[in-house]
Amino acid sequence: MRNFNFSAGPSMLPLEVLEKVRQGLTDYEGTGMSVMEMSHRSKPYQAINDEAEASLRELMNVPENYDIIFVQGGASMQFEAIPLNIHKSGKADYVVTGNFSGKAYKEAKKYGDMAEAASSADKNFTYIPRLNKSMFRPDADYVHICYNNTIFGTRYSEIPDTGNIPLAGDISSCILSQEIDVSKFGVLYAGAQKNVGPAGVTIVIVRKDLQDLANPICPTMMKWSTQIKEKSLYNTPPCFSTYVAMEVFRWLKKNGGVKWIQKINEEKAAMLYDFIDNSAFYSNSVEKPYRSLMNVPFVTPSEDLDKEFVAQAAKEGLLSLKGHRLVGGMRASIYNAMPVEGVKKLIEFMAKFEKANK
Ligand SMILES: Cc1ncc(COP(=O)(O)O)c(C=O)c1O
Repeated sequence: MRNFNFSAGPSMLPLEVLEKVRQGLTDYEGTGMSVMEMSHRSKPYQAINDEAEASLRELMNVPENYDIIFVQGGASMQFEAIPLNIHKSGKADYVVTGNFSGKAYKEAKKYGDMAEAASSADKNFTYIPRLNKSMFRPDADYVHICYNNTIFGTRYSEIPDTGNIPLAGDISSCILSQEIDVSKFGVLYAGAQKNVGPAGVTIVIVRKDLQDLANPICPTMMKWSTQIKEKSLYNTPPCFSTYVAMEVFRWLKKNGGVKWIQKINEEKAAMLYDFIDNSAFYSNSVEKPYRSLMNVPFVTPSEDLDKEFVAQAAKEGLLSLKGHRLVGGMRASIYNAMPVEGVKKLIEFMAKFEKANK
């Protein structure tokens, strides 16, 4: 039996993909072995690596002047890789809209003169600050944002205009969930474990003019150009995670790509927010224009009821609904692989719980 898993990540994968992966688990396409057991220098793996790159390029409409790499270290390693790779003046500006953008800022401070250009900490990260070019230092090497804030349930409603300053974006929790204009960014990065595949592989998309600016102290393994030159095969890559990602890309492409899934994601999010907004029992404190499509935090009138909600929901196969400790309450992460049916079942349960506890 499959449950509906609302975890913020690792999270659900499409059942169809899991079944496909299971089919090839002991014998991948007649090779007599699993992708887990296969040399990353072998022909079948080279084909997986090439297809994953080409499919992601197609799905995200990544322009020719960008390279895509599949690396290890999680999105967290990119918090440091960014200041180490884009190093001219040694200055960069950060927009702090939650936990992960705060962490990125903190890590970057080790490597240069970093400044907080704006923050939404004053209202517990329930909105995205209004940004304009004048808020950034003209000689900053880049401006860093986190496009979707997994813990606080916010997302940018538009991509900020940074003029000539390259924009670095953490898209860990929204990659492939909505159309994103890659050409507005200098670099984009995302851990896979939400919308792409199993944990272990991290996607980095880097514009060509930012590939040769690394600080000399940048470790070889963190230098984007190391992996770009070797097409993500400088050292042993996270083969199995990349393979599953390739299957997820096939699934998306077959069904109509990002446009298709974005529409479904908008429907799922609208259903859930509408229900919350029309209830006097549940609430979500995020300002409406900045509400995330992927992560929906909400509370009941009391912490005791929140606990009860999470426990009872689990008994009905609605799992991992506990909110992050920084926010409390509940959080429903409704990534690409969460079916509409899962959101409907959650709403039905919410209505039942409200009736019983009002
Ligand atoms: C927006 C965002 N950035 C970064 C991270 C950290 O990712 P990783 O665990 O891959 O280092 C997460 C993890 O949940 C996240 O949601």
